[in-house]
Amino acid sequence: MSDTTITGTEERELKVYTEEEVQKHNTPQDCWIICHGKVYDVSKWADEHPAGPELITDYAGFDLTDPFDEVNHSTEAHELLETLCVGRLPGSPKTKFRAKSAGATGSSLLGPFVLMTVVIIGVLVHLAKQNNYM
Ligand code: HEM
Repeated sequence: MSDTTITGTEERELKVYTEEEVQKHNTPQDCWIICHGKVYDVSKWADEHPAGPELITDYAGFDLTDPFDEVNHSTEAHELLETLCVGRLPGSPKTKFRAKSAGATGSSLLGPFVLMTVVIIGVLVHLAKQNNYM
């Protein structure tokens, strides 16, 4: 079905909420926020935020994507956020939350890089043999 969203390793349906619905949860005790198009219930967790609950509850009912991204939150912070996910906005990407990961680009380039290195060494060895250096 088109609404299927992959979260972590498990595949499950995420409930779709409108921004108006999220805005109803706008107190520190009932605090929902939007981050990267997904909806999170941070009511129980906000008190544990290392930089203080207010930085989160100030955005109760609203989108904190920009301030969240401006702080270089760790992968753990992204993963923790994912455990609090209750749904998504209509039309948000139906993919896993994209935590900043330098590894993703790095590993996709690793294959061609290794192949190129092997080819270059092969050519050099071949030339060396031809010229009786080996
Ligand atoms: C629900 C959203 C948020 C979650 C789950 C979250 C989670 C965390 C976590 C786990 C840390 C510890 C360091 C790390 O692992 O990166 C942290 C640190 C921090 N967060 Fe957040 N955060 C959220 C939103 C925000 C927002 C909106 C702001 C700014 C307006 C903010 C500002 C900070 C700052 C300044 C620190 C550093 C604290 C220090 O090093 O003493 N966070 N956050």
